[in-house]
Amino acid sequence: MATSILSSALSIHKEGTSNASLKDTGFLGISLSNHLKSDFFPPVLKSKRTLNHRKLSVSTVRAQTIATTPTITRAPTQGRKTLRTGSVVITGASSGLGLATAKALAETGKWHVIMACRDYLKTERAAKSAGIAKENYTIMHLDLSSLDSVKQFVDNFGRSGRPLDALVCNAAVYQPTAKEPSFTADGFELSVGTNHLGHFLLSRLLLDDLKQSDYPSKRLIIVGSITGNTNTLAGNVPPKANLGDLRGFSGGLNGLNSSAMIDGGNFDGAKAYKDSKVCNMLTMQEFHRRYHKDTGITFASLYPGCIATTGLFREHIPLFRLLFPPFQKYITKGFVSEEESGKRLAQVVSDPSLTKSGVYWSWNKDSASFENQLSQEASDVEKARKMWDISEKLVGLA
Ligand SMILES: NC(=O)c1ccc[n+]([C@@H]2O[C@H](COP(=O)([O-])OP(=O)(O)OC[C@H]3O[C@@H](n4cnc5c(N)ncnc54)[C@H](OP(=O)(O)O)[C@@H]3O)[C@@H](O)[C@H]2O)c1
Repeated sequence: MATSILSSALSIHKEGTSNASLKDTGFLGISLSNHLKSDFFPPVLKSKRTLNHRKLSVSTVRAQTIATTPTITRAPTQGRKTLRTGSVVITGASSGLGLATAKALAETGKWHVIMACRDYLKTERAAKSAGIAKENYTIMHLDLSSLDSVKQFVDNFGRSGRPLDALVCNAAVYQPTAKEPSFTADGFELSVGTNHLGHFLLSRLLLDDLKQSDYPSKRLIIVGSITGNTNTLAGNVPPKANLGDLRGFSGGLNGLNSSAMIDGGNFDGAKAYKDSKVCNMLTMQEFHRRYHKDTGITFASLYPGCIATTGLFREHIPLFRLLFPPFQKYITKGFVSEEESGKRLAQVVSDPSLTKSGVYWSWNKDSASFENQLSQEASDVEKARKMWDISEKLVGLA
């Protein structure tokens, strides 16, 4: 039944455009016809700080910053063995996976969540409707598509005096139907600029705060995706992630004197998203190689499952958004609810059994976590090093 609905849907034209059909705009670059052929989603596979301490300048900050008045929850003083409330920053906590994770962690009563988001009012409404208790979260402005905003966020976070025990790089944009690239405030193609470069700068600038944490297990988590891994069926459906020799990336991804794509090819919004996810997974491993031994920080990535209902698909055509969740639920059976995905990410943040660093976590059908294999490219040590070096230059750290 659902199969026939989807089959007939393949010939329905996209609203408002001439020749685009649903098969042109599949999930994360995967057409629905390909979905029908493939077993798609099941996982196969602080001390007081000052600005002087950071190598950054916020003098030209353009992004408006809105932050709630910090209300710092101090650790209970009686009994040294009592674990103080953890402090976790989650980017993109205004919806989907980020919001569900914020809720899951806040509900334990063991975490204060800093919701690092670009839309204050939306986030406040989302936190309220999710039922997150006011005392368990703080909203701080962060627009990952502006390096100045990232620096301003880091500055504001430092001024709040909160410790940083876990950082979750979760926010993402996905533009599967875009015909032309759009760009960040600094002129980088939007998906890679936001999903990778914004998070790269953020995590580099917050690394010292994580190092200073006295929490028993401090963690830096960068959300990955199956679609960036070409060792999976999902990752093998065109357009495939491929960073190539990084020529577009080293050229600045600006679409002027270089391509807007990392590999130097023609713009493809779905591929740009997948490429950004490869960068996320490479970054996590490079962090692990460079810093785990000396700092004890756990670096991890994950594929949370196919959360077909989130805002990630907001730029897809309405018909896709209508059919995609039941398709994932009843055909591929890869569907994961936002609540379940939030519990999974919350586990990677706080579960004492998931302290191993350098791991890409996935979950099986019984929702048990396991260490998954990354594709050859997403685990390429030399490419990770090169991508790191170029990223440093692009965000002004080198
Ligand atoms: N959905 C899935 O099936 C799936 C599968 C694998 C991995 N993931 C990963 O899960 C993560 C969360 O995605 P989701 O599915 O929960 O999508 P989502 O509901 O659209 O959440 C994305 C979040 O990112 C935020 N964001 C976008 N651009 C931003 C910017 N410039 N600055 C700051 N925040 C920005 C959004 O903020 P606004 O609310 O202001 O737009 C939103 O809070 C992503 O890393 C995605 O790659 C998702």
